[in-house]
Amino acid sequence: MALWGGRFSQAADRRFKSFNDSLRFDYRLAEQDIIGSVAWSKALVTVGVLTVEEQLRLEEALSFLLEEVGAAPESILASDAEDIHSWVEQRLIEKVGDLGKKLHTGRSRNDQVATDLKLWCKMQLSELLSAVRQLQIALVVTAVANQDAVMPGYTHLQRAQPVTFAHWCLAYVEMLARDESRLQDTLKRLDVSPLGCGALAGTAYPIDRDQLAGWLGFATATRNSLDSVSDRDHVLELLSNAAISMVHLSRFAEDLILFNSGEAAFIELSDRVTSGSSLMPQKKNPDALELIRGKCGRVQGALTGMMVTLKGLPLAYNKDMQEDKEGLFDALDTWLDCLHMAALVLEGLQVKRARCREAAQQGYANATELADYLVARGIPFREAHHIVGEAVVEAIRQGKALEALELAELQAFSPVIGDDVYPALSLQSCLDKRSAKGGVSPQQVALATAEAKNRLA
Ligand code: ARG
Repeated sequence: MALWGGRFSQAADRRFKSFNDSLRFDYRLAEQDIIGSVAWSKALVTVGVLTVEEQLRLEEALSFLLEEVGAAPESILASDAEDIHSWVEQRLIEKVGDLGKKLHTGRSRNDQVATDLKLWCKMQLSELLSAVRQLQIALVVTAVANQDAVMPGYTHLQRAQPVTFAHWCLAYVEMLARDESRLQDTLKRLDVSPLGCGALAGTAYPIDRDQLAGWLGFATATRNSLDSVSDRDHVLELLSNAAISMVHLSRFAEDLILFNSGEAAFIELSDRVTSGSSLMPQKKNPDALELIRGKCGRVQGALTGMMVTLKGLPLAYNKDMQEDKEGLFDALDTWLDCLHMAALVLEGLQVKRARCREAAQQGYANATELADYLVARGIPFREAHHIVGEAVVEAIRQGKALEALELAELQAFSPVIGDDVYPALSLQSCLDKRSAKGGVSPQQVALATAEAKNRLA
């Protein structure tokens, strides 16, 4: 039976019922709905609606229900209850009879669903935080193993200057560290309880809402009932955290797909995260990474969808808001899966050092070094830049690297060039010189690795 039958003389159209019902997705809030109900029953004792003995009977039945739900959450789906709140109330009444009908006193599904969803968000947020950290740890481990693996760094997808694979790993650690701090920041605003705001105007029972919030593990209770039942900022914030982090993960995936391509062949991916072609026996496709890159789309979609759903909604609760759950569940599930999958990809990743080094040596990645060399000998940078450009054209014409040109050939571009130019053009010197904070020099990378390790310990 629905929670609101009294005013109606006709049953709902079957098609409307299935359009309106939310149990098929909000069953995931069962645990939070039960925990919220236990807390509410305790609040009802403080205002004399329930006796201590009645509350104990309700709490016992609810705890039993919690165990049932924990063991088989999908069993809820067999019911034709409208939503998880109706389902919990129905099951409670089946267990304790008429006493169960007292539980909804002073409460509305509006403050109830807002509370359930916030409790769920808090739980999910802590799982996401730990996955974001795990991935950072996996990146640091990969960085440690590849401190001296030199490879080309790119801008415009052109080989630009040599970097190390470790430095590349630490770039993603930084992105994920920001994702982590965004989650922590989201938690601060999320951690306030809407329970006791009723349908929109507040509950008519003099409940200590801050105490109630504390029982549920919230820092405090919300300040305005109209806002509390219609606020879904935490959904937007979590979706936006997910959307930004998925953009990071898609770039991570794309970099590795590129490094794994036949053209680059900088890395070898594990068989555990790749798949074969049904037709071409030679192929080993980076499916895990392509899916991470691809799944970014639906997460951006969920964020946009929720923004548009909330735009222009009048206060307070409107049924539109039921649309918050499917996108949120899907986006956060997807994000979590991708974080785990990215860590799994790193676990079995092999860097082909010789091939990386060879690529770093090609493509005139040390041209900036030659310019800096000229600067050190008194030539203004703009002029040095031009001279090196000409030298590069000549080297390309001969099909050689810069350091493969004879000294006399180099001196034709500038007489200040001496024998000591060759060590300056070496990969090691390119790396070593970038020793200011954040640079790719081996000591800076070692320092950054140690700092990241410390932070993640
Ligand atoms: N299933 C609803 C939701 O997810 C619960 C709140 C219903 N409130 C109401 N007044 N009909 O938003």
